[in-house]
Amino acid sequence: MTAPRVLVTRHLPEGGLDPLIDAGYDITLPVPGETLSHDDVVALIPGHAGLVCDLTDLTDAAVIEAGAPTLRIVATVSVGFDKIDRVAAAAHDVAVTNTPGVLDETTADLAFLLILTAARRSSGAEADLRAGRWTGWAIDDHLGTDVHGATLGVVGFGRIGRAVARRAEGFGMTVLHSTRRPTGIAGYVDSLDELLERADIVSLHIPLTPETRGLIGAKQIARMKEGSVLINTARGPIVDEDALVDALESGHLFAAGLDVFDGEPALNPRLLTAPNLTILPHIGSATHATRRNMAQMSSASVVTVLQGGTPDNLVPPPL
Ligand code: DGY
Repeated sequence: MTAPRVLVTRHLPEGGLDPLIDAGYDITLPVPGETLSHDDVVALIPGHAGLVCDLTDLTDAAVIEAGAPTLRIVATVSVGFDKIDRVAAAAHDVAVTNTPGVLDETTADLAFLLILTAARRSSGAEADLRAGRWTGWAIDDHLGTDVHGATLGVVGFGRIGRAVARRAEGFGMTVLHSTRRPTGIAGYVDSLDELLERADIVSLHIPLTPETRGLIGAKQIARMKEGSVLINTARGPIVDEDALVDALESGHLFAAGLDVFDGEPALNPRLLTAPNLTILPHIGSATHATRRNMAQMSSASVVTVLQGGTPDNLVPPPL
């Protein structure tokens, strides 16, 4: 019997392919230093039983259809699966898996870094120091807003949202959260509007779906408290970036921190000059250990599915 073939769109961290190697699968990788484009994947996928991709790979109907009928699983090395056409996958009986759990704490650390950096405006302060604009300590220099004692509004209370909430408790913050369904947990508020109106700092932890695209627009930002802070480590298109920049420019928002962007890696040029905005290049899960764990989880999912099992991290088809 020939070994199942698995196409991997890029070189993964060391050890990331171990489950596939241990299972004796036939792995197709790009040449060293390269990644596969969408066209490459469409051309190469026929005959493969598994595809390991990530959040930058558009795994649309063209990929799924080119892989059918041999393709049985698409495993994305990410928790987000918004680039995968789950309708096409379900239509062709292709399982979809992601990497929940292994990146929660690392991503929550980064969200908290942005909360602190934005509220204390530390990236602007460092930029001033590096540029020689600092003339010495002054009573009114680089003033931020306190994180301790503030009210944090967590939008979406899944694993990452809860991990951010745990950190906030250590900072003596009051934590509110809003979700689609009541959680029965203290701090639950039953409308996003109420959360936006009550929080000093709002942090987004929801997936990108048709319902959440543009969820935080000009109207929602206007509901946020004067002088509040917005943090997005989820997906860029959830926030209307122009509305965010308007609110930073007008001073309605005190500061913001973004790790994700609409249309990344391209950046809305207004983000580069917006005041009191910290921007990071989508590094929420970027630690050595977490990226290796994510890669191993994806590889293990491929093995589970190809051996006839059902992995815990199966992404359900859309309703
Ligand atoms: C994900 O996994 O979806 C994050 O955005 C990056 O790790």
